[in-house]
Amino acid sequence: MASLTVRQLDDKLKKRLRLRAAKHGRSVEEEIRTILRAAAADSDEFAEATGESAAAGARATARPNAKRVLLIIGGGIAAYKSLDLIRRLKERGLAVRVVMTQAAQAFVTPLAAGALAGERAFTELLDPQSEFDVGHIRLAREADIIVVAPATADLIAKMANGLASDLATAVLLATNAPVLIAPAMNPAMWSHRATRRNLGTLAADGVHSVGPNAGEMAERNEAGVGRMAEPAEIADMAMALLARDPEKWEPVFGKDHAQSNKGTPGALAGQRVLVTSGPTHEPIDPVRYIANRSSGKQGHAIAAAAQAAGAAVTLVSGPVNVPDPPGVTVVRVETARDMLRAVEAALPADAAIFAAAVADWRSADVHGQKIKKNAGGMPELALLENPDILATTAQRKRGRPKLVIGFAAETQDVVANAKLKLKKKGCDWIVANDVSAEGGVMGGDSNTVHLVTESGVDSWPPQSKDAVAAALVKRIARELKGDAS
Ligand code: CTP
Repeated sequence: MASLTVRQLDDKLKKRLRLRAAKHGRSVEEEIRTILRAAAADSDEFAEATGESAAAGARATARPNAKRVLLIIGGGIAAYKSLDLIRRLKERGLAVRVVMTQAAQAFVTPLAAGALAGERAFTELLDPQSEFDVGHIRLAREADIIVVAPATADLIAKMANGLASDLATAVLLATNAPVLIAPAMNPAMWSHRATRRNLGTLAADGVHSVGPNAGEMAERNEAGVGRMAEPAEIADMAMALLARDPEKWEPVFGKDHAQSNKGTPGALAGQRVLVTSGPTHEPIDPVRYIANRSSGKQGHAIAAAAQAAGAAVTLVSGPVNVPDPPGVTVVRVETARDMLRAVEAALPADAAIFAAAVADWRSADVHGQKIKKNAGGMPELALLENPDILATTAQRKRGRPKLVIGFAAETQDVVANAKLKLKKKGCDWIVANDVSAEGGVMGGDSNTVHLVTESGVDSWPPQSKDAVAAALVKRIARELKGDAS
């Protein structure tokens, strides 16, 4: 169709069109074209006829039927990286729409975000024209996933409390789509109890999270954990979430949303929780030892989440480089036998979570002096089996914690091996994770786990170790209260 003449418009409508066009900086003709495009894209017949999916403007460069990402840009210095994120998402064949908070507009302009997305960026909640065009409900409904990047401490707090005071938060409250946040803030704000609490609530509500990473901050001479994850990391996580089968993922939709109130802080008030974390080191001589790969990140995150939920927590930790979680009693140990002693000393407990990567064997002889290379051939290394701390605790006749949870680090047949381990060790649950090198779980910040219980297997989405910890703590709280589903 080359051109279109519109006749017989009444004066009132003409006036409204002129005002609307002026507001958007378009000619009246261009404004009419925009309205027609939006209306046509909204119709299924049009979508079928042209091979385009709804809201074509935002998807100008995306594949037909491309998955739709709604990117919410929060107000932090990392907002500049979100412009790159738009490109990374589009590179992956996704259609991108942008919503910006007012604070975000102090860092990047809606014009820049809109130009990269291929559709104007949305900024206002109470803008009658926007509500008429593409209101917050439609923005929420038309997204296959919502990505919040950067997710500032303020935005996270608003999400955790269900505020809907601006367009971004109203959309987040109105959506059924999975939500992925990429937090970014100063390390002090990141480690503040209020932020930890809010993140625990979001994880319990089924919100996914990526990062933050450690590194230099925007503030001079500041470094620590708080940098927003890199755009490619965020885009990859969004792709992974879009590829999942919603039926198999635990804390995302429906059931868990309905129960999210039960994941509130204080859920473990009055409970005693014991956590093991990190590797053990089994000495061979004064300089050498046998160990397992483990950063302690997951175990420490569980201790922190249990503490944030109000539990009295004892963390028995092997040698790690991660900081002690605030408010937790930390017992530092070296060997498996030390760890067993420390665990027994910390009982009784209501729940015990064994996240440590305990070395299965120790050297039969610990040499007092360093073994020299030229002391006559290869040294013989006789090994003895270490006590199994999880099995010993799970099989206690007296003083067994009500809930005993093991981890299963597997490189193949993850779920099948975890089921066997559940029986063999006599524990109540196993959190199974694939630790093959490709997954980057060992030492990394994210984890993909399956919760194996007597009643079945829940596969959780890939998420940060903090989010795994928060979701696990929520399940523990439900179980201890006796209303597990
Ligand atoms: N565990 C333990 N004490 C040990 C070995 C393991 O408490 N001596 C605990 C771990 O903390 C984890 C669980 O047992 O919760 C499973 O650990 P994993 O290394 O996966 O299993 P293993 O029992 O060592 O079996 P395998 O190495 O044969 O897979």
